[in-house]
Amino acid sequence: MKDSGVDGRIIELFRSGDGVVSGAALSRLLGVSRTAVWKHVKGLRASGYLIEAVPSKGYRLVSSPKVLTQLDLSAGLETKRVGSNIICLKETESTNKVAFTLAEEGAAEGTVVIADAQSAGKGRLGRIWLSPPGVNLYCSVVLRPAIAPMAACQLTFLSVVAVARAIESCTTLKPQIKWPNDILINGKKVAGLLNEMNAETEKVNFVVLGIGVNLNLDMASISESLLRHPATSLLQEGGVEVDRLAFTRALLLELDRLYDVFLAEGEAPVRAEWLERSAIKGRKVKVSQGEREFTGMVQGVDSFGALLVQLSDGKVETVLSGDVALV
Ligand code: BTN
Repeated sequence: MKDSGVDGRIIELFRSGDGVVSGAALSRLLGVSRTAVWKHVKGLRASGYLIEAVPSKGYRLVSSPKVLTQLDLSAGLETKRVGSNIICLKETESTNKVAFTLAEEGAAEGTVVIADAQSAGKGRLGRIWLSPPGVNLYCSVVLRPAIAPMAACQLTFLSVVAVARAIESCTTLKPQIKWPNDILINGKKVAGLLNEMNAETEKVNFVVLGIGVNLNLDMASISESLLRHPATSLLQEGGVEVDRLAFTRALLLELDRLYDVFLAEGEAPVRAEWLERSAIKGRKVKVSQGEREFTGMVQGVDSFGALLVQLSDGKVETVLSGDVALV
């Protein structure tokens, strides 16, 4: 967990207590003077935190800024690696682009870049990822696993499973996974993942896990012509607004847990969960690879993340890229 200083610890104490924390308790627990506590509270208010002074009792955190902040995300975040450094931006072209540049400059493993909006969000195959402000999650995580480039696609499974788990922990919805990296709710896409890598022949230097989740997007506000596939949001499917902060913290925690398993035990456990959750295992699919199209039954995925599709003549095709749709 990143040490976010006195401000971060104040937020943490507000969260862990029963609401009101006295100035004396803050001063004692933080080891700073009452005047310093007051200055920090003033600073937090100036950054958009609504902190109420409860007469003769202390302070109470009423609400955080509407945008995600590093302080809110890292306060009490019990992760080993993911979130070692969290950068929250109001708007950027693409969080993947920012994270990639930071990683090239040496950013630590676990660095997270989040933006409230993206002006040129990147989707798979050169597509655009719609990224309006205030409603969704756009997040990129830098990892530096000591693996061969061929094995890096396993990390796609990791981020897909983490998003599915986070959806389950914050909503009552049942996410489904579609190879290689789509997450669907009731057959419609709610999240997309774009992992980018910097590698040499033998080893990966770093991987950027790019994660976009439609949380509270009002689907009626989006012209259908902008959507390639039927899309949805958690709000649209569940009928209740999702707390962006709680969702993002849950996601960072799940990413960290899965990455820990990945480093300790290899890719098999994560791939097994991916398969378990997959919407296409044992189903008939149409695979489109540019001009080429074929149909077959999905048998599973191999250890490099390729989809294994059995054709009608019994031959098994190994699919490494392309679009896959249920028939
Ligand atoms: C897809 O096409 O399904 C992948 C979409 C990935 C979108 C996310 S949003 C955060 C990160 N930054 C980007 O520019 N893209 C990814």
